Amino acid sequence: MKNFKRYLVTSALPYANGPIHIGHLAGVYIPSDIYTRYLRMKGADVISICGSDEHGVPITLKARKEGVSPQEIVDRYHTMNKKAFEDFGIAFDIYSRTSNKVHYETASGFFKTLYDKGEFIEKTSEQYYDEEAGCFLADRYIMGTCPHCGNENAYGDQCEKCGTSLSPNELINPHSTISGSKPVLRDTLHWYLPLDKYEPWLKKWILEDHKEWKVNVYGQCKSWLDQGLQPRAVSRDLDWGVPVPVEGAKGKVLYVWFDAPIGYISATKELTPDWEKYWKDKDTKMVHFIGKDNIVFHCIIFPAMLRAEGSYILPENVPANEFLNLENDKISTSRNWAVWLHEYLEDFPNKQDVLRYSLCANAPETKDNDFTWKDFQARNNNELVAILGNFVNRTLVLTNNYYGGRVTERGKTDSNDESVLNEIMRFKENVETCLETFRFREALKEAMNLARLGNKYLADTEPWKVIKSDPERVKTIMNIALQITANLTIICEPFLPFSMEKLRILINLNELKWENAGKQNLLPPGHMINKAELLFDKIEDEEITRQINKLLATKKTNEENNSKTTPGKEPVTFDDFTKIDIRTATILEAEKVPKTTKLLKLRIDTGIDIRTIVSGIAEYYEPESIVGKQISIVANLEPRKIKGIESKGMILMAEDKNGKLVMVAPAEMVSNGSMIK
Ligand code: 2FM
Ligand code: ZN
Repeated sequence: MKNFKRYLVTSALPYANGPIHIGHLAGVYIPSDIYTRYLRMKGADVISICGSDEHGVPITLKARKEGVSPQEIVDRYHTMNKKAFEDFGIAFDIYSRTSNKVHYETASGFFKTLYDKGEFIEKTSEQYYDEEAGCFLADRYIMGTCPHCGNENAYGDQCEKCGTSLSPNELINPHSTISGSKPVLRDTLHWYLPLDKYEPWLKKWILEDHKEWKVNVYGQCKSWLDQGLQPRAVSRDLDWGVPVPVEGAKGKVLYVWFDAPIGYISATKELTPDWEKYWKDKDTKMVHFIGKDNIVFHCIIFPAMLRAEGSYILPENVPANEFLNLENDKISTSRNWAVWLHEYLEDFPNKQDVLRYSLCANAPETKDNDFTWKDFQARNNNELVAILGNFVNRTLVLTNNYYGGRVTERGKTDSNDESVLNEIMRFKENVETCLETFRFREALKEAMNLARLGNKYLADTEPWKVIKSDPERVKTIMNIALQITANLTIICEPFLPFSMEKLRILINLNELKWENAGKQNLLPPGHMINKAELLFDKIEDEEITRQINKLLATKKTNEENNSKTTPGKEPVTFDDFTKIDIRTATILEAEKVPKTTKLLKLRIDTGIDIRTIVSGIAEYYEPESIVGKQISIVANLEPRKIKGIESKGMILMAEDKNGKLVMVAPAEMVSNGSMIK
């Protein structure tokens, strides 16, 4: 493995159009903070970069909705989110923003370099234009019916129901989200990055040279690369963003996904005049922490941009996490289904570490995961209080009671003492290996195992009993318990910075250096510690019930808001009705469609034949759980190609008021192919 001289850690720049919630923390910022803190403790030359992503349609849409300027929106959320990160100890070296001058210059300059090198394709094409509003309709400014799943509310860049990425021209019955009018097609000029040109190089760089990347990241890249890359537009007709810096580009700005990752570079420039050594020296290890929806941009598009520019290094790793759900439902800003950081701190002041701990212990590292308030309570009461807090507290209280806070000599040791002392060393190595390979859950578990070892040691040696019969022996026991405590302070710091700072002061350690972990004499005999104080306290049932009730109230409000049942449709003739071939069928096989989050490919026995149907239900059903289920289908819907797979028919689903899809099945088992009439 290559030894790097320095590290550049980036964390996805969150859009400044809403506050930060637990999903953001668990997916991106807690892992990046743990990694950076660990490197800093090792004395590495490391910088951690983040900031607000202040361009793009999500910002302008929010501004339009509130009737304020985009600048007002980004100013509000930039300030709020910067504070939320600080409050939770997410220690970026800089939290910048993409609306500042350095960024405009850097993004503009980057585009210009590529333009001057002839790296773009310039192409005029027909795009949708809103004649009422007098503007082109990029990305989320246009909605229509998804050609893949029939969702009538698909956006111009993505269908949120089946997860497919779209371009506005693919939408059926498009309409403008600004005026609601039917758009017309007009010619417009844009600049395209020819990703196809970089495909062979990307294939080698990722698929051959970076086999060590996380399975979810590698898999998503492979699926994109296997399908073949197309040139991608890097400009938009919008009035909010970095202007395209070439002649004749009036009214055009850089596509937000072109300018945002360059934000990492501009933030570094803002942080240090020495920025080039972090971006241009092969001895720098660059690591991008992101969520899974950002994989293609960080693994394919941004590297292609860097490669086209030519003077920058590439990321060594991109440890993307999957998504965190909340109480079994997708976190959603628009439905207010989230735990917002600022609200958490109002309800649980000074309990940042409890949230950090439970989000890391339950991080969506390899698959989507669920945050529940019950689990949060259990993590606090059964782990932080009962294991870590309990061990540390007993050690500090006994040292104060027996020796007035003075660290005792370690006298004669027995074989159990020796094996415990030797084990301390092992923990350091194990945690280190996990952190270097981005397995943060396991790293935390291992750190907690050191506290478990400490508890077991005290339970086995029983100093509170032995003090009467063999006081000399207790001096050895307490010395060893204190060495474990000092080791815990170091090893747990990246995960629990607030509590470990408190503990560091309690035991009077000067500084927390990673190289000191594993040592057996961190607290020398005669060293004084302070009076014990509890690191964690129990969270009572009432506090959890209050949080659950808050979510129930949100659910109720959402249901009331959505309670408008879809209006009845126009009458149809019986003849028309009988034209639709609705019948029962059984699912024989089910698997996820690669590169999508919502589609399942199903093999179905329809009673007439065995066929394939692609259905947008992956969010609601695990493939293995539906094999063998009897369902209802529309058997004579015209076949359609979805993600290159021919889908013959449609699964009938009931959609509840929250948009949840449930399969419609006969009340009793009947033979496949039974007509539904
Ligand atoms: O998904 C998002 O929230 C984007 N704002 C992330 C941007 S990451 C980087 F490229 F800036
Ligand atoms: Zn769709």
